Amino acid sequence: MSQGRNSYRLVKKLIREHEAWFSRTLPLVASENLASMAVREALSSDMGQRYAEGPPGDRIYAGCRYMDKVEEVAMDLARKLFGGDFVDVRPISGLIANLSVYSGLTTPGDTIVSLSTASGGHISSESKESQGTAGLVHGLRVEYFEYDVKKLNIDVDRSLKKMSSLHREKKSPKVVTFGASLFLFPHPLRDMVERIREIGATVLYDGAHVAGLIAGGEFQDPMKEGADLLTFSTHKTMFGPQGGMIVGRSEFREKVSLGVFPGTTSNHHPNLVAGKALALAELMEFGKIYARDVISNARALAEALSESGENVLGEALGFTRSHQVVLDTMKYGGGIKAEKLLESVNIITNRQSFPREPYTPRPEVPEGLRLGTSELTRLGFSKSDMKEVAAIIHYALNGGERERVMERVEEVRKGKQSAKYSFERSPAYFYR
Ligand SMILES: Cc1ncc(COP(=O)(O)O)c(C=O)c1O
Repeated sequence: MSQGRNSYRLVKKLIREHEAWFSRTLPLVASENLASMAVREALSSDMGQRYAEGPPGDRIYAGCRYMDKVEEVAMDLARKLFGGDFVDVRPISGLIANLSVYSGLTTPGDTIVSLSTASGGHISSESKESQGTAGLVHGLRVEYFEYDVKKLNIDVDRSLKKMSSLHREKKSPKVVTFGASLFLFPHPLRDMVERIREIGATVLYDGAHVAGLIAGGEFQDPMKEGADLLTFSTHKTMFGPQGGMIVGRSEFREKVSLGVFPGTTSNHHPNLVAGKALALAELMEFGKIYARDVISNARALAEALSESGENVLGEALGFTRSHQVVLDTMKYGGGIKAEKLLESVNIITNRQSFPREPYTPRPEVPEGLRLGTSELTRLGFSKSDMKEVAAIIHYALNGGERERVMERVEEVRKGKQSAKYSFERSPAYFYR
């Protein structure tokens, strides 16, 4: 058989096997989620084959009549869910959304302040030395928020002091970026925004992880708390297609728009915009209850893990106010070993080093795992299911019999094979 035909068959078979496997797992990666059938159908629609550069109604291609309308619906829904004066639905990922803001608002050599990856920040707002996008791609200098390891949050006083001294040294940041990848508790945006404005910086809130919780009104509301711009991924707690989005105050509209096109994007994948619009509509209808369920499931999972004898980060702080739970796995040889052991029994997680002061190097072996409850919640898991999930994880990490772990995972997944919080029946796995 020809290599082409062989590979064609192989890839189709691998996709089927992937879906069959995932239907028997506990998907606990905090940055992932399940998109509804409607969103996935939109992704495979003809809109995915079209070009639509330029704003709706003034494209530089013909054939955009319906895609224009879809984009307008997406912008309208996002404005209502996230606030702000304008929405840019074009960025094709959260990283690209951040880079678009940096490209539009800063020039290489400018300074930004962000959360270091050591303290739980994301590479998109990191320096060149840390192989971060802001430094590597746009030549930005990056200063870091000071971090309070006990509170697992930004240290307000020390960070403001630092920004004031940068200001005195005429090295004021152009943009100050809140938000994180390891994001258990809301950031002290409200306490800092006034002083940040005084030193002339624009306030960006990277809500990549928590966008679905913000839309549901169950996390801090960045635009109400004073952010100038909000960027996010559309597929983490927001359960849409993989993509990005920007919301902002009107004075930033033009610069951000240039940062997106032609700054970081040429065509913006109109099928993605359709998927985003459908997910936003689902969030508008079901977002409140979904976000509540995600957060109460995260709390229930953390409590049950802790009761079973596991070390969970942030006990004194109530463990979590988001979708995330951080588990200490040092007694099992660290995060990589634990991640691989759990994967071998169909529990999908990812390694996570603990947040530390910004300039403290991260350890070679990450101390733990970051777990997220968004996807399980969308699959219909309740607080009582979280007790069984915690018990299975504890059993698996403590030498539980492999076959028994996998059986228990299959049992708890029974009847939970479609996306809740959808307008229509939404099987999670349907690839032929
Ligand atoms: C805080 C934060 N910002 C940005 C991103 C990048 O998002 P994406 O993967 O959509 O590019 C991530 C991804 O995990 C993130 O955690």
